[in-house]
Formats: sequence, structure tokens, C-alpha cells
Amino acid sequence: MFDHVGWGKKNRLRKIVQQEDNRVLMLAIDHGYFMGPTHGMEKPRVAIHELLPHIDSLMLSPGILKTDVDPDQDLAFVLRASGGNSVLDPDIDDEELILSAKEAVRLNASAIAISVYIGTEHQHQTLLTLAEAINEAAEYDLPVLGVTAVGKKLKDKKEKRYLALASRIVAEYGADIVKTYYCDGFSEVVAKCPVPIVIAGGPKLETYEDVLNLTYKALQEGAVGVDMGRNIWQSEHPAAILQGVKAIVHGGASVAEALELVGTLANASTARQEEFEVTQEDIEISSLH
Ligand code: R5P
Repeated sequence: MFDHVGWGKKNRLRKIVQQEDNRVLMLAIDHGYFMGPTHGMEKPRVAIHELLPHIDSLMLSPGILKTDVDPDQDLAFVLRASGGNSVLDPDIDDEELILSAKEAVRLNASAIAISVYIGTEHQHQTLLTLAEAINEAAEYDLPVLGVTAVGKKLKDKKEKRYLALASRIVAEYGADIVKTYYCDGFSEVVAKCPVPIVIAGGPKLETYEDVLNLTYKALQEGAVGVDMGRNIWQSEHPAAILQGVKAIVHGGASVAEALELVGTLANASTARQEEFEVTQEDIEISSLH
């Protein structure tokens, strides 16, 4: 894997895609860049404290990296580099570049993440932003994670024809890894995309079994791993479900084995403490994409 890339990029990519099994366990906490203090991630330092020992890489905004992560962490960081939108916009697709490759390298990022919104009003702009980011990142051998994002209007367009189209376009522009959603017929999305794919978790699912099933099926059908957020840190027992996901991603566990592990780890000591009042509006806002 990654035989076609230069030494610097390969070294950075290998901090994300593990050499031993070619798998990725990335925790996504970048949601605040357009959703603000998202339910479950109101205080990032607190929310991630018990999670960092279990992951390979952390996807986050440059601001939260500097304020909430200590520099001695032995982790790969994937920095959110597109933005300019907020949840208060009619849709969330109006993004441009918000972080230079130079600043990302200064922050010791292993990659930058750029979202594209295929089929939306700002498709063209977000694709040009991806191109600009890839060209700039190439100067530093800095990998780019291309995210096939859906806006509010395309929220339900998570199906194979759309995701195959979006993933392939992102790969054609030169992204090193594509992040997309799982869907029925996902193996076809993977087969039509020439670079490794990781999946987002999407809005919080009902049960731990749902999360583990999603992870298992995605890997079985060709994903190299997960870049998951809300289904970990909005759950009742974030460290427990994260270790269940890890057991599947890196341990080859079945859903039943992972679920059993989560059951043994989910107890009062691993329960997430709700520090703020959570309204229905908070829940709805955090599940709009
Ligand atoms: C958007 O909020 C971000 O790009 C997230 O990193 C992405 O949606 C993955 O997080 P989740 O698993 O919560 O969907």
C-alpha cells in the first residue's frame, strides 16, 4: 500500500494506516468547526481523555488541537482544513480552505481533511478547494483525506451510486484516503475507488450492536477502517464502545465478540457524565448530517 508516494507522505500515512494490518482507527472530533459545542463534545479535553489511549489517529480542528491536546501525545493528527460554514447556514456546503499546508505541517499534522459536497450548490467551489489543498499539500508531502460530505439537503443521499461518484471524484483529484459513508452495496463503492476508504459513523445509532455491525460490514466490504465520531463520544460509554470498534478494526473480532467486550467494559466507571442540559434541539442539530 502507498508504494506510489514519496517517503515523507508514506511516513505520515503509515501513522494513520497501520503497517501491521493496513487498518485505520481514527476518532473524529472536528464537528465543532461548524456545529460549535456539539452534544458530547462540549469540553473536548474531558471527552477525549479516556479515548486517546485506544486510537491511532485523531481528526480535529487546529484550534482544538492547540487548546485541548497536549503535545506529548503519541498520535497521528488529521487536521480539518476546509470550513467557512456554520450550522446556522441554510445548508452547510459553503466551504473553502481554512488551514494552509504550511501551518498543518507546523502543527505536525499527519494529514489534512477537506470536505467536498458533490451535487450541492457549492460543489464546484468545494472541489476547487480540494484541488488547491492537494496542490499545496504536495509541496510538503502532506497527505490529504478527502471527505465526501452531504449537506442538509442531501442528508439522505447516502446510497451507492452517489457515494461511488463522490468517492471516485475525490480520488481522481488526488486525495490519499477517502472518507465516506457505508451504504448497501458498499463493496462497489470501494471497488470503484482507487485509494483506501474509511467510513464516518454518521448520526448516533440506536444500539452498540448497530455501531459494531456498521463497522464490521464496512470492513468486510473493503473499508480500511473508521473515522468515527458521534457514535463513540455521544454514547453512554464512549471508551467501551470505542474498544469494541477497535476489536473489530484491529483485532479481527466478530460483532458478537466485540459486543461481549463492550458489555464487560460498560459500567458506572466508564459512563459518560452529562455536564450540561441537553435539549431536543441539541440532539437534532448534532444529527443533521
Ligand atoms: C463532520 O462533522 C466531520 O467531518 C466528521 O468528522 C464526520 O462526520 C465523522 O463523524 P461522525 O462519525 O460523527 O459522522
